[in-house]
Amino acid sequence: MTDTACTYVIFGATGNLSRIKLMPALYHLEAVGKLPKETIILALGRSIQDRDQFISEVHNWISQKARGGLDEAVFKRFTGRLRYFRGDLTDPEIYPRLSSLLEDRSAFPANIAFYMAIRPADFGSVIEQLSSVGLLRESHGWKRVVIEKPFGYDLESARALQHLISKHLREEQLFRIDHYLGKGTVRNVLVFRFANLLLEPLWNRNYIDHIQITHSEQLGVGDRAAFYDGVGAMRDMIQSHLLQLLTLVAMEPPVSMSAEDLRDEKVKVLKSIRPIPRNAVHAHAFRAQYTEGQLDGKPVKSYLQEERIPPDSVTETYAALKLYIDNWRWRDVPFYLRTGKRMAQGRSLIGICFKRPPQQLFRDTAIQRMQQNWVLLGIQPGDALRIEMTVKEPGLEMQTRQTSLDASLCGRDEESTDAYEGLLLDIITGDRSLFLRYDEVEQAWQVVDPIIRTWAMEREFIHSYPAGSWGPQESRRLFEKEEHHWRHCLEPECQQ
Ligand code: BG6
Repeated sequence: MTDTACTYVIFGATGNLSRIKLMPALYHLEAVGKLPKETIILALGRSIQDRDQFISEVHNWISQKARGGLDEAVFKRFTGRLRYFRGDLTDPEIYPRLSSLLEDRSAFPANIAFYMAIRPADFGSVIEQLSSVGLLRESHGWKRVVIEKPFGYDLESARALQHLISKHLREEQLFRIDHYLGKGTVRNVLVFRFANLLLEPLWNRNYIDHIQITHSEQLGVGDRAAFYDGVGAMRDMIQSHLLQLLTLVAMEPPVSMSAEDLRDEKVKVLKSIRPIPRNAVHAHAFRAQYTEGQLDGKPVKSYLQEERIPPDSVTETYAALKLYIDNWRWRDVPFYLRTGKRMAQGRSLIGICFKRPPQQLFRDTAIQRMQQNWVLLGIQPGDALRIEMTVKEPGLEMQTRQTSLDASLCGRDEESTDAYEGLLLDIITGDRSLFLRYDEVEQAWQVVDPIIRTWAMEREFIHSYPAGSWGPQESRRLFEKEEHHWRHCLEPECQQ
């Protein structure tokens, strides 16, 4: 346990992120004794009247999320840390009040992490206000600001936001969160690659045919319609989470595991991505929207029928992208990235498909066609790591089948933690290796900017796919070779 007690000030503490992620994560840290002893959580919100009501709401939220059910004794300890501050973050009056409250050192540790669980449009103004009342000065204790994605709306707005906040904060004070980097398997990609020598000699264009990174969800847009319709799948998932996964899979071994060395290597990958010219956008990117369909036997409405979605919206709920990394290791290996809402299953998977052996030695036997080897890193549900190999079936015939070496990361009795738990601790200890540096964000916007600009101008037509399917067949047009197919899940038959 770290002994750096701090005050966690959560803006937007009554909102969606706080309900489903932050409060449950903080509770779980309490349960395992990881929160520094004096740590206080100051929740800022508008909709809840007072601390008592807040605590009863938090009880509700955590009851739905606690692993193994809510433990009342842990919850009691946890509420000992909870304070509530009622206020509207757009009201400038709250900031001097907040400042004088936090000045009370006997009640609040001087190290403060401000967590922006709020609309991205409010990041800049809240930071300005905090700065104007001196709350970001580090004369007593550290002051850190945690920003959720999306950082900006496109390249230009990301630059403008960075320009604004860098007037008030040093880069070291900023924690740009991408919760994907806190997920078990994602952290494990680095261990898998750099703690094992076995695959490293094969991890390049000489042996790898192509790489796929998929995130599919069964969920629709739910109550986030207003946010989502202005964003779409390319910004929501690919610009951030999936490009981050790509950097971890493709990066060179870093000089050390320090935050700066690690992020230097990730930026190099992003910088090496071949730019997509505007006239090649359709060869590299594909978008679609879900129509009515069925999920787990139940009818599901179309995106356009969701509440608060304009009837003529062409926002994509599915996006796929083909990228090339122009460096010695990866030149000409296609990386396919894909994400979608209301898909057949919820899965996140990295699939690395190897080339065929140079000679077809079994051509004259009963074996029709040799399968390629895959390395599969399953991110969710459950952490998994599999290497698919071809073996001979028992018997006299020369027949083969696929089998997999399974090095799944979680044993039967091990429970995985939520990504936010580790990240919330990293903020306290000041470890920024799993947070994004500004240059990473900017480079990621450079990659997708030509696509979102082109799509913004093409408002007449968007492809569709029935809810509950694996997305449109037309997305196959991105494939470099006819034999490429989407790999949906860990099982070999899961292909399209
Ligand atoms: C968020 C996106 O960043 O990630 C959501 O805004 C998406 O649209 C979510 O559903 C996926 O994360 P997870 O951890 O639920 O797979």
